[in-house]
Amino acid sequence: MCGIIGVVGSNDTLATLLQGLERLEYRGYDSAGIALVRSGHTWRARTAAGTESVAALRVECEDNAPQGYRSGIGHTRWATHGAPEAENAHPHLDCSGHVAIIHNGIIENHTELRVELRERGHVFTSVTDTEVVAHLVEEMRSTGLELLDAVRHALVRVRGAFAIAVMDATEPDVIVAARRISPLVVGTSPGVSYLASDVPAILGRATAFYAVNDDEIVRLGPEGFRAVDLEGAPVRLRQLHIDWDLETAEKGGFDDFMSKEIAEQPTAVRSTLLDRRRRDGTIVFDELRISDQELREVQRVVLVACGTSLHAAHVAKYVIERWSRLSVDVDIASEYRYRDPIVEIGTLVIGVSQSGETIDTIQAIREAQRRGARVVAISNIVDSSLAREADAVIYTRAGLEVSVASTKAFVAQVAALELLALRLAQLRETLTPEEIERNLQGLNEVGDHIATALSRSDDVNAVAQQLLEARDYFFIGRHVGFPTALEGALKLKEITYLHAEGYAAGELKHGPLALIEPGVIVVAVTTDPQMHEKILSNVAEVKARGATVIAVATDDDEKIDAVADFVLRVPACDPMYSPMIDIVPLQLLAYSLARGLGRNVDRPRNLAKTVTVE
Ligand code: AGP
Repeated sequence: MCGIIGVVGSNDTLATLLQGLERLEYRGYDSAGIALVRSGHTWRARTAAGTESVAALRVECEDNAPQGYRSGIGHTRWATHGAPEAENAHPHLDCSGHVAIIHNGIIENHTELRVELRERGHVFTSVTDTEVVAHLVEEMRSTGLELLDAVRHALVRVRGAFAIAVMDATEPDVIVAARRISPLVVGTSPGVSYLASDVPAILGRATAFYAVNDDEIVRLGPEGFRAVDLEGAPVRLRQLHIDWDLETAEKGGFDDFMSKEIAEQPTAVRSTLLDRRRRDGTIVFDELRISDQELREVQRVVLVACGTSLHAAHVAKYVIERWSRLSVDVDIASEYRYRDPIVEIGTLVIGVSQSGETIDTIQAIREAQRRGARVVAISNIVDSSLAREADAVIYTRAGLEVSVASTKAFVAQVAALELLALRLAQLRETLTPEEIERNLQGLNEVGDHIATALSRSDDVNAVAQQLLEARDYFFIGRHVGFPTALEGALKLKEITYLHAEGYAAGELKHGPLALIEPGVIVVAVTTDPQMHEKILSNVAEVKARGATVIAVATDDDEKIDAVADFVLRVPACDPMYSPMIDIVPLQLLAYSLARGLGRNVDRPRNLAKTVTVE
């Protein structure tokens, strides 16, 4: 996720912007930039030095920035469109050089807007989606509109997600900011106004904070701000009561990064799905450097990954096979490279990794490439080692994941892999256009279903408080519920340090049932209608042997209350999407138990966020 900050009316503009960008670094970024604006003059500096970009920007500004500027904007970029190079770093300028813009989000219709603007003579200096907005504002300003209305009219043309801030040297000491999906806060102190992606960036400077809602546009000046909606009607911003210290602020007011990242899952899925469908219904991955013809020639898919990413890969097996009718194998990355794997013509290997730096996964895809496979990386970090070494990449857009326990990356990986499955089905015509559209619509509703599941966290916590003495857990599921169970077990074991195993429910009777006795907790994922009768019989099996059963069940399940001791309800949806929703109560269960046991949920013992050793 990118980070934005702006200040107007300050006697300490540069320091405010640089400090704010440093406080936004935890959001992850690969380049950075600042623009200082006063009457008739815009000064800009941009750096692309990976995670050293803000440090490099500080040096650049301290050496070269002019004095006496009371207003400016700053940006840390997490590349989505265009390589992480200086010319793609924000702020972006219009043709006149007077209008400067920074942006967090994705402009879905940037391609068509760019063509239209070029036809009207605009010259682009980057390949970013953001730059189109600078030229749209330029056009609106040329009709005589003041900056607030120019931005408002420009945004009417824009589809997608944004938190933007715009300045114009011909209207000094004004910043216009606007929000749709991507976060944005406004702050004030006497004689100064601020904006930022989130509170930490301006904490200690602003003394009052306000939330900006979707499609609200704010004009900030030294005297304060006023806000309007897209039609220009005045709106009141909701004041936030912030009494956080900086560390709490970086967690967005949450106690820890894990709970913050669990809460970010609706946005992680929505962002990953954004801008992946052309108006004609074609599914596109801007960053995928494999031709449609090569994808058509795929005869077999092999997914390699570790840990949580391996569980996302397991979900993808069911979905790719169901939708594209391609045979799919899933392999533990650390095993794949040592088993003399068979790679034939038409084998596509997909390496799934949040960090893109897991050496087991990197070594696995190197082995696949050595044997002639085409390799696609699914990575959450732009330009990660895995992304660079693969033949092609699809980025999840979960934003920086700090907690060792992976949560939002999992749902984003499943979303990206399901989109890829739809693209393969589209090219192989194994689904009709209507079926493709229906599944795209279903995927677009997943964010809302996750939000509903998240709203029931108190129910999960109430169950967890009754189980703090339990020491033995089995997670069971069938079909896509099986990898969901695997992931639920991993979450619990890695942050509570309790024993937990994930099993295919049908496997219990082949051995593990011997371990079931009073005191053992069995968590059953029961949401798949086709598997419901079978999984209920598995629940009966373990109940008969004294287990305590927690069931993850859909809102419309009328049978589960009679068989389970505890029921965690989730919205019903197509089983193919259900792992992204069913995993939520399992994440929350692990989290509540770990907190109840006094564990450090962000930094569990013995574990690292990225495993760069074999
Ligand atoms: C999951 O919560 C763990 N942090 C771990 O299993 C992780 O998923 C695994 O190490 C793979 O990491 P990657 O996705 O960055 O490759």
